[in-house]
Amino acid sequence: MAVIPVDIAGRPYEVRVGAGLLPELGVHCRGRLRKRLVPIVTDSNVHAAWGPVVEAALLEAGHEARWRIVPPGEASKGWEQLAGTVEWLLDEGVERGDHILALGGGIVGDLTGFAAAILKRGCHFIQLPTSLLAQVDSSVGGKTAINTGAGKNLVGAFHQPALVLADLDVLGTLPPRELRSGYAEVVKYGLISDADFFAWCAANGTAMLGGDAALREYAVSYSVAAKAKIVAEDEFETTGKRALLNLGHTFGHALEAETGFSDKLLHGEAVALGMVLAARYSARLGLMPSASAEIVAAHIGAAELPATLKAAGITCAGRTLTGHMLHDKKMDAGTLPFLLMRGIGETFLAKDVDLADVAKFLDGEINRN
Ligand SMILES: NC(=O)c1ccc[n+]([C@@H]2O[C@H](COP(=O)([O-])OP(=O)(O)OC[C@H]3O[C@@H](n4cnc5c(N)ncnc54)[C@H](O)[C@@H]3O)[C@@H](O)[C@H]2O)c1
Ligand SMILES: [Zn+2]
Repeated sequence: MAVIPVDIAGRPYEVRVGAGLLPELGVHCRGRLRKRLVPIVTDSNVHAAWGPVVEAALLEAGHEARWRIVPPGEASKGWEQLAGTVEWLLDEGVERGDHILALGGGIVGDLTGFAAAILKRGCHFIQLPTSLLAQVDSSVGGKTAINTGAGKNLVGAFHQPALVLADLDVLGTLPPRELRSGYAEVVKYGLISDADFFAWCAANGTAMLGGDAALREYAVSYSVAAKAKIVAEDEFETTGKRALLNLGHTFGHALEAETGFSDKLLHGEAVALGMVLAARYSARLGLMPSASAEIVAAHIGAAELPATLKAAGITCAGRTLTGHMLHDKKMDAGTLPFLLMRGIGETFLAKDVDLADVAKFLDGEINRN
């Protein structure tokens, strides 16, 4: 097991990464679960696959699981499920000193984390991430949110978990497409600031996706450590450091908006293509060699993630995509911060990007095979 500390001032916590952590849940949570009944939020897919394991682990430690099971999918990250979850926690008699467990992917984690943030002005929660995306990204760092009619993640809070347990065995039941989608966020850490880690991904990524346990442990624990470092330096995204984690996300969100945030294009798939577009656009601006951008594209393609607009089924005009960018929640006084690259592992925040030029670039990308 790897233990990665997240050194948030005043509220440090650990991310534990390894196989077989869920069956030992009681041991890992010792001292935190004060009552016999333990509230756990999950979705129906995860409950079917891992509910019995968690229930048995809690029973062994003298606890009884109290489940709230939401439907899988982005629609559960909304006002209705937030209200339902908070009311349920109140009915369960949850107090500020109690810990709420979140067993699931980023949707369950974001919903439960936000419910924990506002319940009685903040109670504890423990992340038990079950998707690769949740293990390497969403369960760490304390961003919690729900979606509204106006867009994704528009209402939320910074609320750090008390503990994160990333059991690698759960990835065994994750649908392969979800696994690959989460892998985009792994590659992202290499592209942001670590060319060596990108090289590791290029050499080992497909074997990791194929199921190699040791490679999975390395990929997840490396990614968590990379995120933990950034979050500890810039918890509230004020210095620009944490913003680097949005590499590929400005393009990616526009692609997700164009496909209606549906399963036509999963978040990680949009981010994968978004990173390729950020690299190719950086090359077009003369910031980085074209050859480097093509190395990024080749690895994304090798991981069976979309590396071209065509592969993602996007056929609209560039202007349509930049139009979606104008609704990005990172819009700041009329300008959109854009993450560009000077090379692999050298991402930086550019503030003077001309969206009309980005639209022209995207028009040129439409026909690329
Ligand atoms: N808070 C953050 O910092 C942050 C960062 C990135 C993404 N997010 C959010 O995360 C969400 C996406 O998370 P996600 O990709 O994990 O999606 P998800 O939670 O929908 O999980 C993906 C799918 O896999 C299923 N699943 C999850 N784990 C499984 C397992 N072990 N076995 C079988 N099925 C399993 C789920 O039921 C779901 O159908 C988005 O809402 C996004 O906004 C948040
Ligand atoms: Zn993301």
